[in-house]
Amino acid sequence: MPHYTEPMLKEGSLKDKIIVVTGGGTGLGRSMSKYFLELGAKVVICSRKKEVIEQAAKELQDETGGQCIGFSCDVRNYEEVESVLKQSVAEFGSVNGLVNNAAGNFISPTERLSHRAFDSVVDIVLKGSYNCSLAFGKYWIKNKIKANVLSIVTTYAWVGSGYVVPSACAKAGVLAMTRSLAVEWGKYGIRFNAIAPGPFPTKGAWDRLFPQEFLEKFDINSKIPLGRVGEHQELANLAAYLMSEYSAYINGDVITIDGGEWMKNGGEFTWVGDMISPEMWDHVENLIKGKTGKSQS
Ligand code: HXC
Ligand code: NAP
Repeated sequence: MPHYTEPMLKEGSLKDKIIVVTGGGTGLGRSMSKYFLELGAKVVICSRKKEVIEQAAKELQDETGGQCIGFSCDVRNYEEVESVLKQSVAEFGSVNGLVNNAAGNFISPTERLSHRAFDSVVDIVLKGSYNCSLAFGKYWIKNKIKANVLSIVTTYAWVGSGYVVPSACAKAGVLAMTRSLAVEWGKYGIRFNAIAPGPFPTKGAWDRLFPQEFLEKFDINSKIPLGRVGEHQELANLAAYLMSEYSAYINGDVITIDGGEWMKNGGEFTWVGDMISPEMWDHVENLIKGKTGKSQS
């Protein structure tokens, strides 16, 4: 029986794709890049740390036998983004995919943040994503290239979240950009979609959002109806599908992959289920029926 930790798409599903993945040297970006390469795409990864990104590109090539190059780039700087695009075209002849994955985040009460701390996260996430989408979009429109943009947001992009307010503001902006450009640039054959993951263990996220002290106080799995965190391959499967031609009619959507987490925690009475035993429910039902004039069982 197929399992969610297994690769899903058939061989060669991305063979005509040349995809740039921002933040592709670590965490989820690396896992997506690896699967894109396994499916035949040529992949460019970029991030600030030159040594990390070059080493990751080399490892990804060795692991998959595919073609991957790594460029250092701070997505907050438009000229650096343009330079990655130019170098990618020089190397591979064209580019027809972009994954806005690079992010910055840390957990903190908002009143403790300096304005520079707020800027730092918003600039990486929102400015980085619009810098890349704008530079690549101009190139695609000018050269009449059909293309595909996938942005990695979060489930709090629509409900918001305390203690990660810069990230929530920025991810909401990326989601708005996704929906807006899906409509505006659909006529050029450029699709925009997003994935909203729940918790997927990565060093980057866990060091900054779930420090050991937190993990000792609560079990992250208990927040999730399915009782577990995500596996990188299941997110890579979804990302590869959205970057492939199999999803050609999906445009302007955001797909949640979180085991039901956001709805559980957003539901007014969800907490009740974890606190009340079946016997207590009998008692509660009788109490309610007594008060509402219905017969008691
Ligand atoms: C308060 C903090 C802080 C903290 C940094 N700052 N960390 N303030 N609490 N924990 C402040 C600094 O003091 C500084 O302000 C300002 O932020 C900028 O800090 P720098 O270190 O100079 O910034 P920079 O080098 O640009 O680094 C950006 C970063 C860093 C966001 C702060 O963490 C980073 O590089 N992150 C990249 C990777 C990452 O974040 N991955 C996780 C993504 S996970 P002052 O005023 O002192 O100058 C994710 C998942 C969401 O998004 C959903 C999970 C379920
Ligand atoms: P990660 O490993 O820390 O990934 C973040 C990447 O962004 C790093 O490779 C980092 O590399 C790069 N980056 C940061 N600032 C940059 C900049 N200015 N320019 C270019 N690259 C930059 O964390 P992750 O968990 O895999 O996160 C990946 C994506 O998934 C993010 O969009 C995150 O918000 C999203 N997400 C993650 C989770 C989760 O549970 N893990 C849940 C929801 C959403 P450098 O430091 O070398 O620049």
